[in-house]
Amino acid sequence: MVGRTLWSGRFDGDVDSSTLEFTSSLDVDAALSFYDVMGSLAHVKMLKECKIIPDEDADVIINGLKKIRSEIESGEFKIDRSLEDIHTNIEFRLTDIVGHIGGKLHTARSRNDQVVTDFKMYLRDVVLNIVSLIDELINALIEIAKKEDLIIPGFTHTQHAQPVTIAQHALAHIFKLERDASRFLEAFDRMNYCPLGSAALAGTTYPIDRIMVAEALGFKAPTQNSMDSVSDRDFATELAFCSSLTAIHLSSMAEELINWSSQEFNFIEMDDAYTTGSSIMPQKKNPDIAELIRGKTGSIIGNLVTMLVMIKGLPLSYNRDLQEDKAPVMLSLESLHKCLVMMSKIVSTLRFNENVIASKVALGFINATDLADYLAIRGLTFREAHGVVGTIVRYCIEGKKNLEDLSLGEFKEFSELFEDDVYDYISMKSCVERRNSFGGTSTQSTSVQLDHAIQNYARRKDIIKKESNFINACWSKLIS
Ligand code: ARG
Repeated sequence: MVGRTLWSGRFDGDVDSSTLEFTSSLDVDAALSFYDVMGSLAHVKMLKECKIIPDEDADVIINGLKKIRSEIESGEFKIDRSLEDIHTNIEFRLTDIVGHIGGKLHTARSRNDQVVTDFKMYLRDVVLNIVSLIDELINALIEIAKKEDLIIPGFTHTQHAQPVTIAQHALAHIFKLERDASRFLEAFDRMNYCPLGSAALAGTTYPIDRIMVAEALGFKAPTQNSMDSVSDRDFATELAFCSSLTAIHLSSMAEELINWSSQEFNFIEMDDAYTTGSSIMPQKKNPDIAELIRGKTGSIIGNLVTMLVMIKGLPLSYNRDLQEDKAPVMLSLESLHKCLVMMSKIVSTLRFNENVIASKVALGFINATDLADYLAIRGLTFREAHGVVGTIVRYCIEGKKNLEDLSLGEFKEFSELFEDDVYDYISMKSCVERRNSFGGTSTQSTSVQLDHAIQNYARRKDIIKKESNFINACWSKLIS
């Protein structure tokens, strides 16, 4: 069936149904319905205030839009699938309710500025939600970081490197996620400018008040340039990037969890609730959730590439290509949402096999750097010390011993500088506690980091609360 359009006047013949089907964005932009009504309410209130349409017409439209809003909220709003998009649906529903006066709503605006405004409002809410989900994960990691006594092997090149605390390890993930959260919040600030009133591309001849509309919709200010406004998809692309980087961080965590729960590592045990079994091997407990988090990263990165390629080389200003902006970003954020929820559940229910970890800490000579430091502070150059300890390690490998198993006599054969205090010096605990440099793994340093993480977590919680209260207050005002 060929549906009604907002633009049939110029056309002699009917547009083919395949054209409408092909150009429709309804499947995706139906999610913008609430924001579309809010945008229209702000717009019509401004038209009234600026005397662009008569008060009584504006009031009729305002009441009609309020009715549509409650229909959307209660689920009664029926989407007509034969119409091109959600904007068309809402405008036609308005004229169904209030008659031809509804046609005045579109004075001084275009779908070009309307759709980008709707999308920004939608994304603002999603971003605040994503940041609180990142924070839930940070919170779960903070709980792990409080176990400052647990020493694990720290890895480089997936080889045992130096001893670190689980606190230091968890905090490493926390700081990556903190940057993700702040990247999302910065993107939020950057996109929080209102394009409405840019109209098709050049602005409008009507004496509109863009500041009033921007304020009513909770934006910081109107955007500066009408042509930029209708063609800008930086904000959506940036969120696709923020999602990708966060997903990449989750993917690395997932990889680690998968490895650490393998029989080879056996550092951790994931809760049964967040693992799955095998249909053939009865003994299996598989880390499928973590694997899926790792796997879903692929499409999230793919969506970023979709956005970049879609906007590349577009001439100013609006081009219909831009309609393809919503699905990739929405899908990325939706997928990231699910990954964050599941990762928080896995992390908050993890158990550490502390005995296994302790036995693994003893392997791989992870206190060898400290043994070299011991000689260096007693007079050797670090290079000489490095050479001596390398020889000692070779000796230990042949004798199947750890460094701390050597007798003082054996140590002295490699250097006269060794004394009895060497054993305490190279104990794992001392190795950890001596790394007291800013950002290091010592208990003192990790507690500074932890305080920092806890404060930032609280600060972000305040920001999210403030921003969402502000947006909600704008909505309440608009529908009052
Ligand atoms: N459904 C369209 C979108 O999502 C609305 C804009 C249509 N504008 C136009 N000039 N055809 O982008």
